[in-house]
Amino acid sequence: MFNIGIVGAQFMGRAHTNAWFDVDRFYDLPFQIVMKAACDIDPASEKDFASRLGWQTFETSWGNLIKREDIDIIDICTPNNTHMPVAVAAAKAGKHIICEKPIAMDADEARQMLDAAEAAGINHMVAFNYRRVPAIALAKQLIEDGKLGKIYHFNAVYYQDWLVDPDFPWVWRHDAKLAGSGAHGDMNAHTVDLARYLVGEIESVCGEAKVFIDRRKMAKTGQISIVTADDATSFLAQFAGGASGNFMGTRFATGRKNFLRLEIFGSRGSLVFNLERLNELEYYSRDDQLAEQGFKNVLITENQHPYMHKWWPPGHIIGWEHTFIHEIGDFLKAIAENKKIKPDFYDGYKCQLILDTVLRSAKERKWLEVPV
Ligand SMILES: NC(=O)c1ccc[n+]([C@@H]2O[C@H](COP(=O)([O-])OP(=O)(O)OC[C@H]3O[C@@H](n4cnc5c(N)ncnc54)[C@H](O)[C@@H]3O)[C@@H](O)[C@H]2O)c1
Repeated sequence: MFNIGIVGAQFMGRAHTNAWFDVDRFYDLPFQIVMKAACDIDPASEKDFASRLGWQTFETSWGNLIKREDIDIIDICTPNNTHMPVAVAAAKAGKHIICEKPIAMDADEARQMLDAAEAAGINHMVAFNYRRVPAIALAKQLIEDGKLGKIYHFNAVYYQDWLVDPDFPWVWRHDAKLAGSGAHGDMNAHTVDLARYLVGEIESVCGEAKVFIDRRKMAKTGQISIVTADDATSFLAQFAGGASGNFMGTRFATGRKNFLRLEIFGSRGSLVFNLERLNELEYYSRDDQLAEQGFKNVLITENQHPYMHKWWPPGHIIGWEHTFIHEIGDFLKAIAENKKIKPDFYDGYKCQLILDTVLRSAKERKWLEVPV
């Protein structure tokens, strides 16, 4: 039996709860999963979240949750400034940890988390759920099989538009002291992780970070607060393998709600992924007969596609929430088999080093090498 303790009872708390609830119905695990305790500083979450979604007990202090001997795994779904203290304490208490992205406020914190987790010998994972979209996992296989040849370009855009409204209130995501960064740590963290996963390490970057609306009203008090975290960050990148990267993460892409698109161009072929059509992967191969060459749209719902044997007959699509079931299922499988899981705190740390270097580059207005 494995007892889970989750910290953070809003957006990600709900997405992860859905996965904890479903995971052993679709993954063949050698132990039972118990949704033992939920924790949030907001006491209203006891009723709205814990009892409603099936958590057995509730805590308002993460310190108390971690002290509990009946908890085996800590799932961190709180704002970014809490990830490091919660994870370091949980590692010291010998709990396995899954932590939301970005792993931390900066690379120094991420390094402390990695060191604590490795010293404790626990299993640790960063919740970069997009690695576990079946189409992305298939893209990884195609790239590893050499179907794209030498990769020349990795282009990634992650667009949202919820901040275009000047009346959208100030939230923790606007405060660099609570979030570390804004669109950058939130959205570019995902695409940087996907870039490392699919193409390899990034060696140097040149970035630009913008705040378009620098004051917003607090929802409850109406007081004006300063926005200190970026609304949008773009950057160019050079990969160790020679590819060029082009990234943009923005909350000011009017009309785009959660639009994540990757384009990977290689010497033998190309791939295009669009999160709004997550059951599909566009693939172009120069190995096709000349007369037949063109992008084809592959529907990723066959049993032999990554993860799809766990779900429905061919053609029956899955959704965004399934990616969390895949990540939590793989995490539990790794624990059961005493194996390491990826992406782990090392990947979170490497991603954070790149993110930090982009913001430094934007400030200094020049290309910078990512520290090795
Ligand atoms: N993987 C993804 O696609 C994805 C999407 C959104 C957010 N995230 C990440 O998930 C994390 C949480 O984001 P969210 O959107 O769920 O935030 P949220 O604001 O919706 O929820 C955060 C919750 O944490 C609680 N909280 C804050 N401080 C706390 C503390 N000290 N102890 C206990 N509870 C505390 C808040 O009361 C709130 O209920 C962030 O790191 C974010 O970057 C990941």
